[in-house]
Amino acid sequence: MSSSAESGLAQILQLAYSGELAAAYAYRGHWKSSLRKEDRERIREIEEEEWDHRRLVGEMLATLGQKISPLRELRAHCIGRTLGALCWITGWLAPMIGAGALERRNVFEYITAAEFARDSGHEEWIDCLLEMAEVEWEHEAYFRGGVDRHWLGRHLPLWERPGQKADIRAQFGHSGPELRTQS
Ligand SMILES: [Fe+2]
Ligand SMILES: [Fe+2]
Repeated sequence: MSSSAESGLAQILQLAYSGELAAAYAYRGHWKSSLRKEDRERIREIEEEEWDHRRLVGEMLATLGQKISPLRELRAHCIGRTLGALCWITGWLAPMIGAGALERRNVFEYITAAEFARDSGHEEWIDCLLEMAEVEWEHEAYFRGGVDRHWLGRHLPLWERPGQKADIRAQFGHSGPELRTQS
């Protein structure tokens, strides 16, 4: 068990905890401003999944005895609310692109957290963290699909794909997983 792994885990969970808050508020604005019924439903579901993630990450932080930074929370709140409000102005495509790129990062964030959990003696969290990485992978795939549907979006250079969903678990635990090197 490594204490640097535990501090790495705490650090990444702190970022994820506030990141989920920003994402949930941003998606609230996104689904409310979306015109297609399918998009409204799916993005609303994604918002709920981000709240779930935040709750789970919050429980891990509490177990680690970590305090939540009020400043980081305030910043995340402001960012999320601002992005959510901007969705009404920027139109549909820009938030889709921003969200997809962010979700890609989240996939790797939770894989890294799972590795820290393993290395710090918190094996009981590995499955939950990898499952969150898989859910983020599905979010990325949805937003990518949305951009591809758009006449302009399909011609834009997009973020790199986060590999295959099955790779998240297949490569976890191997030294130097390819998925990690793409982040
Ligand atoms: Fe999430
Ligand atoms: Fe997500």
